[in-house]
Amino acid sequence: MADALRIGIAGLGTVGAALVRILQQRSNELAVSCGRPLVVTAVSARDRTRDRGADLSGITWYDDPLELAASADIDVFVELVGGANGAAHDSVRAALARGVHVVTANKALLAYHGVDLARIAEANSVILNYEAAVAGGIPVIKAMRESLTGNSFSRIYGIMNGTCNYILTRMEKEGLSFADCLAEAQRLGYAEADPAFDIDGNDTAHKLAILTTLAFGSEIAADEIYLEGISNISIDDIHAAADLGYRIKLLGVAQRTETGIEQRVHPTMVPLDSVIAQVDGVTNAVALESDILGELLMVGPGAGGNATASAVLGDITDIAKSRPGAQQVPVLGRPAHLLEPYRQAAMRSHEGGYFIRLRVADRIGVFASIAGRMAENGISLESIVQHAKRQPEAGAPQTIILVTHATMEGAVRQAVSAIREEGYLVGEPQVIRIERPKNG
Ligand code: HSE
Repeated sequence: MADALRIGIAGLGTVGAALVRILQQRSNELAVSCGRPLVVTAVSARDRTRDRGADLSGITWYDDPLELAASADIDVFVELVGGANGAAHDSVRAALARGVHVVTANKALLAYHGVDLARIAEANSVILNYEAAVAGGIPVIKAMRESLTGNSFSRIYGIMNGTCNYILTRMEKEGLSFADCLAEAQRLGYAEADPAFDIDGNDTAHKLAILTTLAFGSEIAADEIYLEGISNISIDDIHAAADLGYRIKLLGVAQRTETGIEQRVHPTMVPLDSVIAQVDGVTNAVALESDILGELLMVGPGAGGNATASAVLGDITDIAKSRPGAQQVPVLGRPAHLLEPYRQAAMRSHEGGYFIRLRVADRIGVFASIAGRMAENGISLESIVQHAKRQPEAGAPQTIILVTHATMEGAVRQAVSAIREEGYLVGEPQVIRIERPKNG
């Protein structure tokens, strides 16, 4: 049997501890399938005393991930520290530069430094794997980087944040408040250290930026993503969506258009009978639309220790099976120097259906005025309803809900701003984009 693959793990939190346990419990099976033993030789973590449910005796401890990255007794550096900069960035860079393979679960690191790190990895002929960075346990990176090579992608979209999906699902199914659902998600260990990263859409944006590059061959553009989080979504929106045959999900969407690439993260109405609408709780889903294969939807666990550790383990075993000196899979789907500059499509030219919920003063002529502002902006309406069953008594503000046929975002913005000027709105209008799967 070949020499053992020596693994150094930086970060022994939920994922790191699960990884060590699995590597130890499955050591025989892993050695057989990889043709060599996989051994954790070194770790770095702040707390040396915490019980992690794994045998850490005989493993070298470092306080600093940088020292671990520089140590001579590892072949693979596994970065589970987190954060785009600081220790995570410095240690990954150092490991790659000295010819050590790297596995990371760090989406922010990839989103902001992915191109630079890919260049370093490729210059040093080492592997940089990051399956766990996007959609947890779903093998979407491998699918896009390897299995679907040769396909031309037109659109990719998905539910890539377990915390947001958990919150929206619980709000709908249990009628719980946003705050209660968030607290539950935090208790269950799904949320980021700062949950604003989840609910404001940043976590999804980091993951989307990576997939956009794999899909379209352009440089990673994490700061050029249209972003709306879910904190603005109310139970009323969820009910109104259900009445109209939709469910609300936080989607990340990247799409090739005639004017460039659209990258957007926002609450989205998806048809109730679509598969993605059925993806509940912490589960993630990624849909890939490409010319040769058609539509591929991958659904699976997107957060949590074991799901993430499973993806990290897959990355490590790929390294264990790789042949020294052989050509490696390009980190970002094509060699980093061949990535194209990112060309952003303006959000105003996004074309799609819209849900618009307005609270208005109960006055004669309001309905007609709203329909008029829509028509003036060339917007065709699929429906306009004022549901008697969900309204308060006459004279109190009423809710009017519009659904448009496919139209331009710019036209919707203009129509809503014209409606605002009419003076009958009560509170802020709610606008939610509608996304339809290719085949449904
Ligand atoms: N906070 C993330 C989520 C964890 O909720 O999906 C995985 O990135």
